[in-house]
Amino acid sequence: MSVPTPHITAKEGDFARTVLMPGDPLRSRFIAETYLDNPVLVNNTRGVQGYTGTYKGKRVSVMASGMGIPSIGIYSYELFSFYGVENIIRVGTAGGIADTVHIRDVVFGMSAYTNSNFGRQYGFDGNVAPCCSFKLLDAAVRAARGMGIEPNVGAIYSSDIFYDESGSAKVMKKLGVLATEMEAAGLYLNAARLGKNALAICTISDHLFTGESLSAEERQTTFTQMMEIALEIA
Ligand code: HPA
Repeated sequence: MSVPTPHITAKEGDFARTVLMPGDPLRSRFIAETYLDNPVLVNNTRGVQGYTGTYKGKRVSVMASGMGIPSIGIYSYELFSFYGVENIIRVGTAGGIADTVHIRDVVFGMSAYTNSNFGRQYGFDGNVAPCCSFKLLDAAVRAARGMGIEPNVGAIYSSDIFYDESGSAKVMKKLGVLATEMEAAGLYLNAARLGKNALAICTISDHLFTGESLSAEERQTTFTQMMEIALEIA
């Protein structure tokens, strides 16, 4: 296959080597307009806005993933395989699971447990918890500490089910998982399979066990820390 792909109408060379990936297309536009110099819209198929510009002189792209592993699975596969993208950094919110994480905290997903069948395609007959790129994780930890932020680093849980009746979050809590979101495991599996680099940087927007949650306004300010870490390592 070549470009354009079924889901991305950008031309060859339109994306930088590093793509920041929020879930929400409007957030993609917000990031491009707020942080990038000279952002150019390179994709708008299905309203999944993708931009390329520069940050402190570095060429960086931002494109939305949509929600869930099927969606990030498509976009990350096409960016890695057909647009020469080397690094994808997911920037999103997550629900807290561990007692040690609180709303506004920044969590780096070292590995991603999942209830998704995405990894079955490779024919491995067991359980896989894909992990992030150590290079990106190491850079992100250093960048965060440089900003006076101590990140929570550990396993996260990429669930296919937002309204979940199974009680899986309790099991994850017992196993020391920090937080839940819906995309990292698909992104990490594609990166592993394709020899690329991925990291999920999350802000805790709500907590599944304490019931704490952020207001829309608070989400915006804490989002800034996560974004600045991602841009620093891009
Ligand atoms: N579950 C899944 N994804 C999320 C959550 C959650 O509780 N909070 C923010 N993203």
